[in-house]
Amino acid sequence: MNYQIALSFEDGVTRFIEATGEETVADAAYRQGINIPLDCRDGACGTCKCMAESGRYDLGEEYVEDALSEEEVEQGYVLTCQMRAESDCVLHVPASSDVCKTAQASYEASISAVRQLSDSTIALSIKGEALSKLAFLPGQYVNLKVPGSEQARAYSFSSLQKDGEVSFLIRNVPGGLMSSFLTSLAKNGDSMTLAGPLGSFYLRDIKRPLLLLAGGTGLAPFTAMLEKIAEQGSDYPLHLIYGVTNDFDLVEMDKLETLATRIANFTYSACVANAESNYPHKGYVTQHIEPKHLNDGDVDVYLCGPPPMVEAVSGYIREQGIAPVNFYYEKFAASA
Ligand code: FES
Repeated sequence: MNYQIALSFEDGVTRFIEATGEETVADAAYRQGINIPLDCRDGACGTCKCMAESGRYDLGEEYVEDALSEEEVEQGYVLTCQMRAESDCVLHVPASSDVCKTAQASYEASISAVRQLSDSTIALSIKGEALSKLAFLPGQYVNLKVPGSEQARAYSFSSLQKDGEVSFLIRNVPGGLMSSFLTSLAKNGDSMTLAGPLGSFYLRDIKRPLLLLAGGTGLAPFTAMLEKIAEQGSDYPLHLIYGVTNDFDLVEMDKLETLATRIANFTYSACVANAESNYPHKGYVTQHIEPKHLNDGDVDVYLCGPPPMVEAVSGYIREQGIAPVNFYYEKFAASA
């Protein structure tokens, strides 16, 4: 049986390999040209130690306590020269992709749909045969090259990959390089190049309730995560609070409604910060976090939004005297 192993490197690059249940993950990586740092290959030195962020695996029996302590095992560390996968896994490798003799992959695709959802938001879909081989963890991003320039912009996937097609939610920045291309030049069939996947903001195994907080186009990684959750289900409650500045920034509400019908434990709300708004829920996301969403700290919080929002939410949670089990966040700022 083959399993998919995501190797997430220190520099944000992620590569995917296949591993059979019989081979060690280090052997599988080497077979596919990725040199996870190794020394003894015997479970004695600890050089190949990685953090397993999700998945089931056999640790092996040959390693010594000095290389991997019981406490480290409890924390999720593994020795890749001993470990054999028993499901798909995500491993954090404490080395750069460069050191491991790999790099981010690049793909060619073409525009399959570009739609201005509102004055502030553009939905872009791209498709291509090469993309059918693109694997990423929901929540991750890629660098999309702006056609006609040498510059690239980072965007989170807003969907899973399906039949070689992926989608993005892009903030329309007046005068912005990508925004100008998408609003005035782009047409279906235009070529685009993307490089990645990248980033450590991705959905982990769901082991407790989740609180998802999205600011503006920071909604994108959550729609990708929720699509994945819709496929696999969740035994725990998930609540999303989606905050925007103006009424016209509120997009993809129909998609959230559909996801809420597909995911039994999923609820969501949205709020608009502008005091002039006609939307029934006003204010910032912090004003809509209820004690039950923080579950006395037994919660994993995921947050994607502009830097001030990340600071505000971190401060708010601290003020409540609560320390979530995990707090994952992604700050983004639009490039002009
Ligand atoms: Fe020495 Fe794995 S390489 S413990």
